[in-house]
Amino acid sequence: MTDKGLEEVVAASTRLSDVDGRAGRLWYVGYDIHELAARSTFEEGVYLLHNLRLPTEAELEELNERLVGEREVSRFLAELMPTLAQQTSPMSMLRTSVSAASAYDPDGWDDSPEANERKAMRLIAKTPTLIAMYHRMRTGQEVVPPNAKLPHAANFLYMLSGQEPEQEDAAALDTTLVLYADHTMNASTFTARVIASTLADMFSAITGAIAALKGPLHGGANEEAMKMLEEVGAPERAEAYVKAKLARHERIMGFGHRVYKTEDPRATHLRRLSQEIGERKGDPRWFEISAEIERVVGEEKGLHPNVDFYAASVYHLLGIPHDLMTPVFALARMSGWTAHVREQYADNRLIRPESEYIGPRNQRYVPIEERSAQAAR
Ligand code: SDX
Repeated sequence: MTDKGLEEVVAASTRLSDVDGRAGRLWYVGYDIHELAARSTFEEGVYLLHNLRLPTEAELEELNERLVGEREVSRFLAELMPTLAQQTSPMSMLRTSVSAASAYDPDGWDDSPEANERKAMRLIAKTPTLIAMYHRMRTGQEVVPPNAKLPHAANFLYMLSGQEPEQEDAAALDTTLVLYADHTMNASTFTARVIASTLADMFSAITGAIAALKGPLHGGANEEAMKMLEEVGAPERAEAYVKAKLARHERIMGFGHRVYKTEDPRATHLRRLSQEIGERKGDPRWFEISAEIERVVGEEKGLHPNVDFYAASVYHLLGIPHDLMTPVFALARMSGWTAHVREQYADNRLIRPESEYIGPRNQRYVPIEERSAQAAR
C-alpha cells in the first residue's frame, strides 16, 4: 500500500524551513514565522534562505542593490511579452517566461554554485517585472519600468498600477511575501528538487515548480478562494453557500492542509491583515464574508483556513487582479524554490521513489490479427 500523495514521507533533509503541523508552527532556518512576519522583510528573508543566517545592514543593503540592479528583463522577453499578454493565462506566461529567460541569461550554460546563486537572484528580481509587464500589456497600458528607489513589494505595486503605493499597502504586501516565501516540501518545491536532482539546470527546475503551483489544490487556491468570496457576495449568504458546496462534496478553496492539523500560522497574520486593510480602506465586506465562511467550514468540517484563504481578500484589497494572485504566490516562493534547488545541488542524490504495481500480471502476447479476429466475434 503506497502512502498516497506521499503523505508523511520524508523526501529530503533541509536547513531552509520546518513545519510542526500539529502545533501549527513554521520556521525559516530556525526563526519563527510569527517573528519574521512581524519584524523581517522579503529581502531579508531572501538573504536568510540563501545564506542560512540573517544579514548585517551592509549585507542587506548589498543584496537590495543586487536585486534592484537585476529587475529589468531582457529585450527578448520584453518582445515575447505582447504575445503572451494576449494569448496566455498569467501562470502560463510566468512558466513560459522563466523557461525562455534561460536563453538570454548571462550564466545560461554555467551550472556552478556561483552561477546558480546569480541565476537565483535574477529570477527573484525579475519575477515581479514579468508579472507587472504582462498585466500592463494585456490591459493596454504603458509598461511601467522598475523604480530603483522602491523595495521589492512596493516596486511590484508601483509597476502594476503606475503609482507609488501607500506605505501601509506596501508593508502589507511585503508581509505576505515573507509568509509565502518557503514552506518545506510542498508540491512545487518538491517538483523543483526532483528536477534539480537529475542535475537539470535552475531554469528547468523553476519552470517545473511554476507548473506545479498553478493547480487549484496548491497555489491556484487563492484565486479560487477570491472567486468564492465574490460568489458569496455578503456575510449572511456564507452559511447557505458553504453548506450547499459541501453537500455537493466540493472542496472549499483555501481550507485544509496536508500538514497543518490546526491553524496555519500564516493564516493568523493574513486574517489580521484582511481585517486591518478592509477597515483602513472602508471596505470590510471581504473580511466579513471570509470570517463567516471560516466559521461555517470550521463548524461543518472542522477545517482551518490555510495560507491562501485570507490572502485572497488581502490581495484584492491591495488592488491585485484576481488572476494575478497565484503569480504573486510564485513571486514570493521564488525565494524558497531557488534556495531549495541550490540546497539540492549542494548535496545531491537522484530522487527516484518506488511505485507499487497494481496492474495485471503474466499477460500472453496475442498477435494483432488474432486480437482483431477475437474482437470481431
Ligand atoms: C497550499 O503543502 C503545502 O505546504 C502547500 C502550501 C505552501 O505554502 O506551499 O501550504 C500552499 O497549497 C495550501 C493548500 C491550498 N489548497 C487549497 O486550499 C485547496 C483546498 N484544500 C484541499 O484540497 C486539501 O485540503 C489539500 C489538498 C490542501 C490537502 O488535502 P489532503 O491532505 O490530500 O486531504 P484530503 O484531500 O485527503 O482530505 C481529507 C478529508 C477529505 O474528507 P473525506 O473525503 O475523507 O470525507 O478532508 C476533506 C476531504 O474531503 N477536505 C476538504 C477540504 N480539504 C480536505 N473538504 C472540503 N474542503 C476542503 N478544502
